[in-house]
Amino acid sequence: MPAVLEGPLLAWYGRQARDLPWRRTRDPYAILVSEVMLQQTQVVRVVPRFEAWMARWPTAAALAAASLADVLAAWVGLGYNRRAVRLREACAVVARDGWPADLSSLPGIGPYTAAAVGAFAFGREELPVDTNVRRVLERTGWTPAVPTPQVGQALMELGALVCRARAAACGDCPLAGAGCASAGRVAVAPRRRGPA
Ligand code: ADE
Repeated sequence: MPAVLEGPLLAWYGRQARDLPWRRTRDPYAILVSEVMLQQTQVVRVVPRFEAWMARWPTAAALAAASLADVLAAWVGLGYNRRAVRLREACAVVARDGWPADLSSLPGIGPYTAAAVGAFAFGREELPVDTNVRRVLERTGWTPAVPTPQVGQALMELGALVCRARAAACGDCPLAGAGCASAGRVAVAPRRRGPA
């Protein structure tokens, strides 16, 4: 019988989740900005950049009205410029037409980002599968039957903090005793040493 891990996962998330600014909102524009920033840049570095961005351009319409030069200058250090160009284009569409039912029809929005905005802003039962989430699902052998937005956030958090790629902390994992198929068996890479 497949494991049902929602309960322990959500309980852990309730205790351990980081308080991140994009988790305090359901504004689709804010969620979109955060997800595009997070595609390239670590959470701790995104937080201040996200807050500054939202203070400067609080709505999709504000971003769409900004000059491309200002947007690119504000993006410095966040990865490919193209992402900022496409983000502004997507916001121009949203400012003109509203949010489309099919979020992946927006410029630069792939399946992952569409699922993230769909779940975290619109409350859809979609699971945004990034590399962290994919790793957790593969290791646990579990697929949530009903992927609530909380389950998506919790899987991301578990992948980032516990079920890490190279140093999984099975001893700290809420799923280890709850039916994870890999509990305690995730190989931990030896510490890197210099050339012999
Ligand atoms: N990485 C990508 N999306 C994220 C989110 N919503 N929270 C934390 N890390 C993320």
